[in-house]
Amino acid sequence: MLVILSHPNLENSIANKTIIEQLSKRFEQIEIRHLETLYPDYKIDVEGEQAALLTADFLIFQHPFYWYSTPPMLKKYLDDVMTPGFAIGVGGDKLKGKQFLQSITLAGSQQSYTALGYNHFRVQEFLKPMEQTAFHTQMIYNLPIYSHRNEYKPEVFSSVSEVKENAVTHAEKVIEKIEDFLNGNKSNVAAFIYKWFEHFDMLDDQGYFIQYLDTDIEFTFPGYGTITGHESFKQWYTSVKEKFEKPLKHEVQNLVIEESFRNQFDIRFQVKFSAIQKESQKEFTVFESENWKLFWNETTDRPVIKKYTVSN
Ligand SMILES: Cc1cc2nc3c(=O)[nH]c(=O)nc-3n(C[C@H](O)[C@H](O)[C@H](O)COP(=O)(O)O)c2cc1C
Repeated sequence: MLVILSHPNLENSIANKTIIEQLSKRFEQIEIRHLETLYPDYKIDVEGEQAALLTADFLIFQHPFYWYSTPPMLKKYLDDVMTPGFAIGVGGDKLKGKQFLQSITLAGSQQSYTALGYNHFRVQEFLKPMEQTAFHTQMIYNLPIYSHRNEYKPEVFSSVSEVKENAVTHAEKVIEKIEDFLNGNKSNVAAFIYKWFEHFDMLDDQGYFIQYLDTDIEFTFPGYGTITGHESFKQWYTSVKEKFEKPLKHEVQNLVIEESFRNQFDIRFQVKFSAIQKESQKEFTVFESENWKLFWNETTDRPVIKKYTVSN
């Protein structure tokens, strides 16, 4: 677990300092890298940071919201560390499959972050660039954790104890996310999704897929409508096999896995699907959005897909 902390003035921080204290108290194995302390001259040790990323399976960006974005050092970190060949581009898949979470403290109230409030947009609208950065680097995106009213202005606004209480509540949410990841099956689910498409690409025996499908599975495919049960899946799969040459190519992108209840997962991602059509011998590429509902059966330690929706 790696926390990249960016705060230009940590000595005067209440919120971020409290969150970090709570996280280090709870997890011995957490590594916290405060960028502004490490690099007071803003010269980032790119290789050192990349090495830290390689060892982490869960990456958290912790920072205050500055001008609807990150402090400048965190932006510089992205510019310098997320290089082609490491995080993107040819051979740049070193972050693939890692969990990503942005954890942010804000001064503005919840009401201010609405269409009629003075900040006009919802917080998550401001966070789109980071969401896409996670997707582009093939990390698994967790919905961000943010908290409001974290500012203390002596004699004007709030109090130190209130901001601290707020920050403890914020830290508890982050801790819960990490614990879900450590004790739960999120990483197993991610590994399963990649495996599923590897088997799909080789047009494996239908038995491989059937074993992971709930008997009442509900499928929705473009051009097929909604079908249910194993037999319908088999018919659909046979039609795919008849239509395309082996191998197919499915590239999973923009993966989001949310655990709504213990072991109940809501999954969404995009797939770039390419294949050669048997009849025309022409290559065919489409982008599809997929939404799955999946249950991780702890007794068998295996996933069960309950709903599988594809749209384009
Ligand atoms: C330069 C600067 C820009 C800021 N921009 C925003 C902003 O865009 N939205 C907001 O809600 N708060 C903004 N704030 C308030 C900080 O987010 C808030 O003070 C911080 O989260 C408190 O955390 P700390 O106690 O760890 O410093 C800004 C503060 C500073 C100093």
